[in-house]
Amino acid sequence: MKHINIVNGPQNVSAIIQGCMRMPDLTKEDAAKVIRTAYDCGINFYDHATCYGQDGAAESKFAEAFPLTGLKREDIYIQSKCGLCFDRNEFDWTKENILSSVDDSLRRLNIDYLDTLLLHRPDVLFDPEEVAEAFDTLEKAGKVRYFGVSNLVPMQTELLKKYVKQPLVINQVQLSLEQSQLIDQALYMNNKSTEFSINRDGNLLDYCRLNDITIQAWSPLQFGMFGGTFIDNPDFPELNKTLGELADREKASKAAIAIAWILRHPAKMQAIIGSMNPEHIKDVCAAADVNLSHHDWYALYLSAGKYLP
Ligand SMILES: NC(=O)c1ccc[n+]([C@@H]2O[C@H](COP(=O)([O-])OP(=O)(O)OC[C@H]3O[C@@H](n4cnc5c(N)ncnc54)[C@H](OP(=O)(O)O)[C@@H]3O)[C@@H](O)[C@H]2O)c1
Repeated sequence: MKHINIVNGPQNVSAIIQGCMRMPDLTKEDAAKVIRTAYDCGINFYDHATCYGQDGAAESKFAEAFPLTGLKREDIYIQSKCGLCFDRNEFDWTKENILSSVDDSLRRLNIDYLDTLLLHRPDVLFDPEEVAEAFDTLEKAGKVRYFGVSNLVPMQTELLKKYVKQPLVINQVQLSLEQSQLIDQALYMNNKSTEFSINRDGNLLDYCRLNDITIQAWSPLQFGMFGGTFIDNPDFPELNKTLGELADREKASKAAIAIAWILRHPAKMQAIIGSMNPEHIKDVCAAADVNLSHHDWYALYLSAGKYLP
């Protein structure tokens, strides 16, 4: 497993993160297998959110399963996110909600601190001074070590940074070979003949690199917005052909090659996998040992329906 140091944040974290969004329906024994398999493959970072499952069910299941893994709290980094309140049909970054969400996550996870807390999707009504107060309170109480955001554009990040004292060390955003808009807009810039040129996020990738914010890529194997995986999907023949050729060459799975494509980018991103199948987790973790060349990276990108402008 490849490890990275998050600037101003947690050190020696695995380049691949185990996402827990799909954990609620597992038995506690199966959840323990997922946590332990990921750890044995070198993953030391687990991603949660208050909204994964009814009433935070993913966090509760993780806590039920954890004692069965033989691991200690200090062996791993635990991240959670707050602000998505589907039960109330709103996004909420008020101080009150941030504080109560963290307390709820800590209670459900049965731990006394989060390594990282991310604000999930932007609450367009957010007041940065309130967020700053909430972060100070959480930091002083020792409940959260590092802070970050998710799905946030650069200018709103700047607005937060004007008030928040703690460095914002992470931005968690969607990126896969099929959902590569984070990259497309720069390559196709100013090109009126294609939608790939549309700047949808205010140059988020370069902004994060310039500001030492580590990008965590969510849904790295999915097409569309949770459309399913493109791996072995007949709707993506060219992509699967290239993935298959590189998988044969590298003696790895196609899924590992798709994750390696994200890890090959010099921005030193983390990829958050969501599999709940231990065999898939082992397959995907081999990505950290795959060496894709500059040419391989472009071959994969182009086979996902792109062209050189
Ligand atoms: N910040 C945000 O807004 C946001 C949004 C979405 C997700 N996330 C985070 O990102 C994590 C990952 O999201 P995701 O679950 O959509 O990621 P993903 O890894 O792209 O997709 C995982 C899904 O693909 C399936 N899959 C099919 N073939 C596979 C193969 N060969 N290898 C591995 N998986 C295969 C998995 O099924 P099996 O279980 O059968 O392997 C699982 O259902 C989440 O758990 C969550 O932590 C964050």
